[in-house]
Amino acid sequence: MAILKIARMGHPVLSRPALPIADPTAPAIARLIDDMMETLEDANGAGLAAPQVHVPLRLVLFRVPPGREPAEGDDGGDSNPAPESGLESPTVLINPVIEPIGERMVEDMEACLSLPGLAGIVPRYHHIRYRWTDTEGQNHEREARGFHARVVQHECDHLDGILYPMRMTDLSTFTFTSELGRPAAVEA
Ligand code: NI
Repeated sequence: MAILKIARMGHPVLSRPALPIADPTAPAIARLIDDMMETLEDANGAGLAAPQVHVPLRLVLFRVPPGREPAEGDDGGDSNPAPESGLESPTVLINPVIEPIGERMVEDMEACLSLPGLAGIVPRYHHIRYRWTDTEGQNHEREARGFHARVVQHECDHLDGILYPMRMTDLSTFTFTSELGRPAAVEA
């Protein structure tokens, strides 16, 4: 196991499409996942995509921190999703594919380990379905809402060379996290 160096915005590996993984059961993939798990833990992130550790393959890890599920009461008339279990530990998605369910977009603050110290408001689909392969080569399908849907969309964007600022519609919300909470009004 090793903590891997994380690529920062501007590195070419973050801007090119990643390649499908032909054999999800390969020992090299298992080693990469072990190292990415350790790197995610060390960085205390919600997710990590292989291109962020300079490996241009379609593999991501994500987790839903306690308190981020269910979808924070913004369910907007959908049937109320039950709290999901098993998402607090990292989940591995190999060759994931996302499909939006409905057109509803929701806005929330995002950050990224490849843009340290920055954050911004990003619109994402509220409700998605995604398919992936696990490390044993089995295929899965699941629906997600709220933060769970957001983190999967963010991580899978990395596989297509997309960083969250490219999804932002209001760049005035782009900020250094160290400036969050500073009073907006200045007395003249
Ligand atoms: Ni990211």
